[in-house]
Amino acid sequence: MDITVTPNDNAAGAIVTDVDLAVLGDAAWAEVYGAFLTHGLLIFPAQHLDEEAQGAFARRFGDIEKLYPGQDQATLHFGNVKADGKLTQPGDESFKLLRGNEGWHTDSTYMPLAAKASMLMALVVPAEGGGTEFADMRAAYDALDPAMQGRLEGLSAYHSLYHSQARAGFAHATDHMYGFHDKGAPLRPVIKTHPETGRKSIYTGRHAFRIEGMDPAESLALLDRLLSDACQPPRTYLHAWTVGDLAVWDNRCMMHRARPYDTSQPRILRASRISGEPESELAPTFADPKADAFRPTSSNASALTMGTAGSEARSESPRDTDLYG
Ligand SMILES: [Fe+2]
Repeated sequence: MDITVTPNDNAAGAIVTDVDLAVLGDAAWAEVYGAFLTHGLLIFPAQHLDEEAQGAFARRFGDIEKLYPGQDQATLHFGNVKADGKLTQPGDESFKLLRGNEGWHTDSTYMPLAAKASMLMALVVPAEGGGTEFADMRAAYDALDPAMQGRLEGLSAYHSLYHSQARAGFAHATDHMYGFHDKGAPLRPVIKTHPETGRKSIYTGRHAFRIEGMDPAESLALLDRLLSDACQPPRTYLHAWTVGDLAVWDNRCMMHRARPYDTSQPRILRASRISGEPESELAPTFADPKADAFRPTSSNASALTMGTAGSEARSESPRDTDLYG
């Protein structure tokens, strides 16, 4: 039976039914990948994949981005529950990221190699809130007037997780968690041409902090206005998670953000992040004013090694590491 793809009315993305991702054949995969490119965001209700099945599905999209040293599986837990079962607290590094990721962004633009796709499956959800909201940046680009499209064409912006977290009110030390590195701030185009569809989109988000060649305050104001205007209906879709739902989205043309919830309640999503193709997602890096050092590299691999990093990193198990948003 063919899969059923139902676009969200006056919103981003599509809902996919009549498919079991645990036993996905090649023909159905081709349909799923075509829908992924067309809609940018696919929601698969009630899949309830186990770790192995989710990992296999994630690997269909490409190489797995490793978010902590020694990561060998394709999935890890994101949320506010630590490995010991306790909830993260406001002083915890992972809590700061949870809150920061309530800002619109696209994943890993602060790394030399940005992410191609991201996947989440809901394991534990709070009674209220805690959804994930998405915005289609192709539609946002199309909605710009031609003069603005022309103004933005050819511009590039620096991206930094230090920057976005600082704007959210949080400071982080270098090299204690993924993203807080000395690899430099990648310089990425403000208008991105999708490597597979050829469509243009706005490619900024909370990690973008300065447009090359523009006054810092002026560029920040432009980036803020661009993002705020872009992430508006009918280009957005808020997914309220039900346990077993799986979402996968194309970071090359969609933005997303976490929505707030009562963090005294547990929320666990099983995540997979898929690496971008170097041909289109690898960016040159330049000294990041908020990092302790600058050692340029084209590798995302963490300089951290378990046991030799700072005490914070040692205490951070994969389950305690929340880079989700
Ligand atoms: Fe995210």
